[in-house]
Amino acid sequence: MARPRAQPDAAVTIDGAPVRVFSGESLLAAANRAGIPIPTLCAVQGLSVWGGCRVCVVEVAGDHTLRPACATTAVDGMEVTTGSDRLVEHRRQIVELLFAEGNHVCAVCVSNGACELQDLAVDLGVDHIRFAYQHPDRGVDLSHPRYGLDHNRCILCSRCVRTCAEIEGANVWAIAARGAGSRLVAELDEPWGESTSCTSCGKCVAVCPTGALFDKGTGVGEMRHDRDVIGFLAAAREQGEWHDREQQP
Ligand code: SF4
Ligand code: SF4
Ligand code: FES
Repeated sequence: MARPRAQPDAAVTIDGAPVRVFSGESLLAAANRAGIPIPTLCAVQGLSVWGGCRVCVVEVAGDHTLRPACATTAVDGMEVTTGSDRLVEHRRQIVELLFAEGNHVCAVCVSNGACELQDLAVDLGVDHIRFAYQHPDRGVDLSHPRYGLDHNRCILCSRCVRTCAEIEGANVWAIAARGAGSRLVAELDEPWGESTSCTSCGKCVAVCPTGALFDKGTGVGEMRHDRDVIGFLAAAREQGEWHDREQQP
């Protein structure tokens, strides 16, 4: 039986609009519910909060630091701004750094046209990169029979790590090392195809925002990801209700 929904018990303003919020709700969730868009990269509905990409930062009146909307609890009376020039510049800088740090050559990427990093760059008007390209040689793992991992396109958002642990319960992925040396590893840094924990469910591939995780055999621009499947699975488990997503209103 579905659990009864609590009533909102506090209110904030987001870009001047009053928004009622539930106890413990994040600013991102409140804004989403009110139809106010805040860009994200690491946050996915249904997964734990990581708060690592800082793309979702917002301004809160009276606070000089930028707050990640996904990791900030909405508190009664907060006045939140989501799209000031300062915020846009901050997000743009993050996206430029991600492009400079990896090898994101959209024209030859399996996710060209279906990439959240690419979409974000377009939305933010990124038409050039102000930082020196690092041109890393991070390698590609094609050891899994069905899927591939191109480390050069990985932005270390940890969506795959959390999805595999929290939704599939397989705990295949981890992020190893620190700083610029950080990298996604399977198991204890083994080829993905040698993982005995991987069930080949494909959920990590579905949730990857870039072309880093992909179905083998997909060509340039063919890979489609589906991050909404994670929110659907998490909500269905929590509420004990399963509906065909195609039948949802
Ligand atoms: S395919 Fe499934 S089990 Fe395997 S690494 Fe991805 S999420 Fe984990
Ligand atoms: S492989 Fe994809 S989902 Fe996993 S950390 Fe890298 S970009 Fe994120
Ligand atoms: S989406 Fe909030 S920090 Fe990444």
